[in-house]
Amino acid sequence: MKILVTGGAGYIGSFVTRMLQDEGHDVVILDNLAYGHRAAVTAPVEVVDLGDRSAVERVFEVHRPDAVMHLAAWIDVNESVNDPAKYFVNNTGYTAMLLEVMARQEVSVFVFSSTAAVYGTPDAIPISESAPTRPESPYGLSKLLTEMSLPAHSNAYGTRWIALRYFNAAGAALDGTTGEDHEPATHLITNVIKGALGQKPFTLFGDDYPDTPDGTCLRDYIHVLDIAAAHVVALEHLSGGGKSGVFNVGTGRGLTNLEVVNAVKRISGTDLPVTIGPRRAGDPSRLVADAGLLRRTMGWEPRYSDLDTIVESSWRWQKSHPQGYGE
Ligand SMILES: NC(=O)c1ccc[n+]([C@@H]2O[C@H](COP(=O)([O-])OP(=O)(O)OC[C@H]3O[C@@H](n4cnc5c(N)ncnc54)[C@H](O)[C@@H]3O)[C@@H](O)[C@H]2O)c1
Repeated sequence: MKILVTGGAGYIGSFVTRMLQDEGHDVVILDNLAYGHRAAVTAPVEVVDLGDRSAVERVFEVHRPDAVMHLAAWIDVNESVNDPAKYFVNNTGYTAMLLEVMARQEVSVFVFSSTAAVYGTPDAIPISESAPTRPESPYGLSKLLTEMSLPAHSNAYGTRWIALRYFNAAGAALDGTTGEDHEPATHLITNVIKGALGQKPFTLFGDDYPDTPDGTCLRDYIHVLDIAAAHVVALEHLSGGGKSGVFNVGTGRGLTNLEVVNAVKRISGTDLPVTIGPRRAGDPSRLVADAGLLRRTMGWEPRYSDLDTIVESSWRWQKSHPQGYGE
């Protein structure tokens, strides 16, 4: 199939692109390269901003995709608190425009990158897809608004969609050749490794959460290769006539921040200094997916999301690429 991957020059999109290509699909990327990296890209790229409607239409006319995987978005939760309009325009507004172009161009298959941030602070863990959605950041809300609009698109235009709510994306290519290069880096594992490499002092935000095993936050880390595989099965599901819907992409296993720090120490062989800082606003103590629905519906299983594979691959990538892609 011909697949348009928006955000395909970004961290997760570049892994999705490579896995689709490995499965024999023909991929074209749409990315404005605001945060994407040319060096991460393995498919033709249209350097286009999603806000440029006529340029987006032209991409559809030239490439005639059968399906769209939509990963392009702004992703910084803290920035979204300080500048919410930026997030609603790009993540919600431009996504609505993309869906409109899809409808006009009669492209009906849509796989959407959503996030665990739609849940906010859960009443209980593991969190199933039917748990209440109470996002605590404009980022989470900007994604939820798109999710909520999708059934209307199905009714009116026949759009067939899957929203994948990823939990904490992590890890790199197993050979360490590609990985995460976000500036600013906000993800825990990347920052712990930066600490181990002596690039940036590492601060752990909060060790006094009452309801976690060691007082530090509990998170569900999912290897980026397993996220990419979820996109492949979502595409197969929709192509085979499967129903639209929302699916968590996680492992169902919670790891504390301290467990992650200790794994980095062990795997890197460094005794990195850890400063304990105050809790960060808007960090729920526990976020762990009920990952059963994607397993049951599409036969997807995480294969690379054990802590050691995640940390070893990230360590290999960051150690060999201390400046990321160097762009
Ligand atoms: N990284 C995570 O832990 C995580 C967790 C949950 C959900 N997600 C979602 O996954 C998706 C990918 O995240 P990522 O970590 O790879 O982020 P990323 O920043 O590495 O990739 C996003 C890409 O989208 C591009 N982009 C942004 N706005 C655009 C626009 N208007 N037009 C064209 N291109 C645009 C950027 O240049 C970038 O290459 C996002 O939608 C994010 O919300 C990520």
